[in-house]
Amino acid sequence: MSALCLNVSSVYSLSEEGYVSEGSPVLLYIDRRRSYLVRAVEGEVLHTHKGVIDLGSLVGKRYGEYVESHRGERFWILKPLIYDLITSFRRKTQVIYAKDMGLILVYAGIGPGSLVVEGGTGSGFLTAILAYHVRPSGRVYSYEIREEFLKLAKRNLESVGLLEYVELKNKDITEGIDEVGVDVVVLDLATPWKAVPHAHRSLRGGGVFVSFSPTIEQVVKTSEALSQYGFIDVWTIEVLVREYKVKKGETRPEMRMVGHTGYITFARKILD
Ligand SMILES: C[S@@+](CC[C@H](N)C(=O)[O-])C[C@H]1O[C@@H](n2cnc3c(N)ncnc32)[C@H](O)[C@@H]1O
Repeated sequence: MSALCLNVSSVYSLSEEGYVSEGSPVLLYIDRRRSYLVRAVEGEVLHTHKGVIDLGSLVGKRYGEYVESHRGERFWILKPLIYDLITSFRRKTQVIYAKDMGLILVYAGIGPGSLVVEGGTGSGFLTAILAYHVRPSGRVYSYEIREEFLKLAKRNLESVGLLEYVELKNKDITEGIDEVGVDVVVLDLATPWKAVPHAHRSLRGGGVFVSFSPTIEQVVKTSEALSQYGFIDVWTIEVLVREYKVKKGETRPEMRMVGHTGYITFARKILD
């Protein structure tokens, strides 16, 4: 999928009524493995191995229709989902996968209006999903020690119109969290246990602590720190997702899957 600057506010504009307008983002879908994230612009074309698509011809079409390349190959016109947009982000760090982001959102109860502290920002994948879900009245305060990653995350968030819901901070989250009374603190960094005392201070009563870690050693140290600070409901999961090939007489799990990303630890803060 090609990298592209899009604006999420236009992606989710209700006024479009399902029609592609000039400048609209479009996901041109061939099959599960082949799709192109493009913008509908007069005078521009997309070259693919299935032929050339006139991107101006997308204007006025309805999402769900198709367009044909000059070779007569069919491309379905889909409205990009937020995850389609995020997968076009430039990345310089390991990023959080959809399977893990989904359960973080659900088990942390993140939704419109939530106040969320995040550390570290990395490439901004999780930041973007958090920002998308806390809109319009919530906010994400995201801490990152490396300025180069913060700059990259800023560009990525700007490209999808989500920067206005995020405060990016070039700070070490293990040295302190400025915000107090937040609903969720979510960490994806090497030493999460060092941020536990600050998370405890920052969270409101009942607020949710979340930490994503690739190794069990990190999980154990973090869980011990959580118990030491009086957090309750400390629990850890691993999310395994297996896609299926569904075809008459051949239905079975796909041969390949993502073997390991990390473990997610959750906990709730209680008042003394
Ligand atoms: C694995 S990346 C995070 C990726 C991010 N969740 C995403 O989806 O794009 C970890 C990031 O944490 C940052 N980091 C490490 N220790 C930190 C700390 N003490 N405070 C703030 N950021 C930190 C690193 O510089 C790195 O960018």
